[in-house]
Amino acid sequence: MPTMLNRRDLIVSAAGLIASAPLAPALAAAMPDAAGTEAAALKDVAARRRLRFGTALSFGALTRDPAYAALVARQCGLLVAENEMKWQWLRPTPTTFAFDRFDAILGWGEAHGIAVRGHNLLWHQPKWLPAWLNAYDFGSAPHREAERLLTTHIDTVTRRYGTRIKSYDVVNEAVNPKDGTLYETSLSKALGGTEPTLDLAFHTARAAAPHAQLVYNDYMSWEPGNDAHRAGVLRLLEGFRRRGTPVDALGVQSHLITQGLPTASHVAALEGPWRAFLDAVTHMGYVLVVTELDVRDNMLPADIAVRDRGVAEFTRAYLDVTLAYPQLTDVLCWGLADRHSWIEGFEPRRDRAPRRPTLYDTALQPKPMRAAVAAALATAPIRTG
Ligand code: G3I
Repeated sequence: MPTMLNRRDLIVSAAGLIASAPLAPALAAAMPDAAGTEAAALKDVAARRRLRFGTALSFGALTRDPAYAALVARQCGLLVAENEMKWQWLRPTPTTFAFDRFDAILGWGEAHGIAVRGHNLLWHQPKWLPAWLNAYDFGSAPHREAERLLTTHIDTVTRRYGTRIKSYDVVNEAVNPKDGTLYETSLSKALGGTEPTLDLAFHTARAAAPHAQLVYNDYMSWEPGNDAHRAGVLRLLEGFRRRGTPVDALGVQSHLITQGLPTASHVAALEGPWRAFLDAVTHMGYVLVVTELDVRDNMLPADIAVRDRGVAEFTRAYLDVTLAYPQLTDVLCWGLADRHSWIEGFEPRRDRAPRRPTLYDTALQPKPMRAAVAAALATAPIRTG
């Protein structure tokens, strides 16, 4: 393993001298080439620092793309079902569960010796709950019925999988990024508020799966425009602690967005507020999990070499800052190859050039982002806990 400069070292050594210089020349010297790092699986690079590396995987990708599944099996020590544990997939009706697709992903992970996380037990936004639940008639005792529905769901899922799943995103994205307030849903309205609803979800998960790491998962990030979102998440995490809600970790989704080719001064400006946020979270005793890493290549030219370089540098800078926290032990990408990323379908580029948000291209060839992740994992402080 070649000796590599840490991104922070680069920033510090450059301070005041090349404050607005492009990162590329310095980083190029610090990053191994993609082919060189491809020799070692990312799960093994991570394991040397006592970290775990993994990805989201969908049932469709698993069953229809064997080459991709083989890549995931080679590179990953950790998996999460991209959609198949969500209420929208798991709960076709108020009285039924559809476990087949999630079971298939879990079984495949186990057959390949890969741990599987649970995502998620409650995505607390009407947009992502099943239509039947948004329109549900809670009857004459709405509080009791909402409590029954929510606890039955969490009990049924967590007891079915027992110790096969050791970490759950119990609650996903309950904070409105616009103003940091909490979303309401049909459940929270019936239960008399969002905080009691989220608390109930965590208490139910702790009782049914006492062995499991319980995570609050959200996409507050380090780019400008995330202040209200970060503040809202901090308020929520403080409330959990104050009320004794059993939450172990913050899932830091890490859907990064470039704003052009990153420069040293740009990265330094992002780093301050991001560290302040992570400091506050870890001082409250929360563990950190990077749960959904990928990059929207905004404000970068269509030219693939330039774009990939910008994405790689931004990812490296972000991971170096974030992996400096010893409370962070798991890094998961939200898809490993561009042909299985949600981003193209949800948010295509303005110039319509295909998005390049992940570590491997559409032909499953490693990209500079893969080398950046490998280098960040390889140079992360060794976890001692
Ligand atoms: O399954 C149907 C398919 O039958 C149909 O042909 C197709 C036509 O549009 O739609 C398919 O379902 C879509 C599904 O993705 C699979 O592609 C859903 O409409 C679409 O809503 C769903 O989007 C998922 C989204 O969460 C909402 O659940 C994305 O795949 C998934 O990547 C995304 O993941 C979220 C995390 O759970 C939470 N954090 C943010 C992250 C990205 O948005």
